[in-house]
Amino acid sequence: MTIYLTIFTIITFFYIITIISLSKTKKENQLPSPIALQLVVNQMSDSYIVLGKNNNITDFNETFTKTFNIDSNNLKNMNLKTFLKEIQTSDSDIEKILEFSKKVKKENKPINFEHTFGGLQKTFQIEVTPIALNKDIIGVLFLFKDITQHIKYTTELEEHKKNLTEKLENTYVETIQTIQYTVEAKDLYTRGHSNRVSEYSILIGEKLGLSDDDISRLRIGGLFHDVGKIGIPDSILQKSGKLTDDEYSEIKQHPIIGAKILSNSSIFKEIIPIVKYHHERFDGKGYPEGLKGENIPYLARITAVADAYDAMTSRRVYRDSLPVDKVITEIEKNKGTQFDPEIAEVFLNILKNKIYNSNNKT
Ligand SMILES: [Fe+2]
Repeated sequence: MTIYLTIFTIITFFYIITIISLSKTKKENQLPSPIALQLVVNQMSDSYIVLGKNNNITDFNETFTKTFNIDSNNLKNMNLKTFLKEIQTSDSDIEKILEFSKKVKKENKPINFEHTFGGLQKTFQIEVTPIALNKDIIGVLFLFKDITQHIKYTTELEEHKKNLTEKLENTYVETIQTIQYTVEAKDLYTRGHSNRVSEYSILIGEKLGLSDDDISRLRIGGLFHDVGKIGIPDSILQKSGKLTDDEYSEIKQHPIIGAKILSNSSIFKEIIPIVKYHHERFDGKGYPEGLKGENIPYLARITAVADAYDAMTSRRVYRDSLPVDKVITEIEKNKGTQFDPEIAEVFLNILKNKIYNSNNKT
């Protein structure tokens, strides 16, 4: 009898424990009450509406009525189009949003919608999600996310980034310019040479009908084409007598040194070919690589003509400047050997027509 009583007590104990734990589990899994749900949706920072049949508004949260300043009593069952007209949405935006409401597939990308509240413009991102019951779509959820601040911060951040990049670029250009001035300060006879090469190159580029970007490359390329001379000893740069073979070999390094100096910044990437190849010759007998014809970058071929012209018309430590008519003859003679014939021809026309007054040197 005692055994039966003990077994009965144990079974009763486990039964009670099971009942308690089952009731606990049920409590934990139960759905939140409608009141709790209502509190959550009303405290959401985003606005939403639910559209039923015929695009009638069947549900919305408080954020929506507050955002669009519309009476909740009027909003219930209001048609989406009527609502959009009520808040004075433009016809094109109404059309865009109505079209969007028809696309309720998941891959539908959000659209932006701008609305002005008493002079204050706000941007909303609208997302649309279908509400399905047993695979039937019974409504559409429209979520309005206010992204005005986000856009403002993104724009400010991009502006800040652009300003910083510009400052950095300016600083770099100034640094290279200082190097260029240092190079020219070493040799009085080449002072102003880079500015003039830049100007002549632009004249040729314009006559050839090049793009604004190419003209800008010619301008900067001309200014910095000899920057690599910073790495050549003064004893060679300023030598008045004839250079030895070794000295000449050293001088021929300046396009490579210049290209290396400029390669440290991405902003000079596009002018490096000018700097590196402005001493190449059309017949392949130039330096540093002996490139030939059209293998020489086009802008470098232009700078080469401008550079040679200025070298000939400027006074050097070892000779006086040559008169323009002699320089014209010299360029004519070297068309197709030293110079690209078409580019040389364009420059000769400029000189012959006196488009540029070579006496106006700085
Ligand atoms: Fe040079």
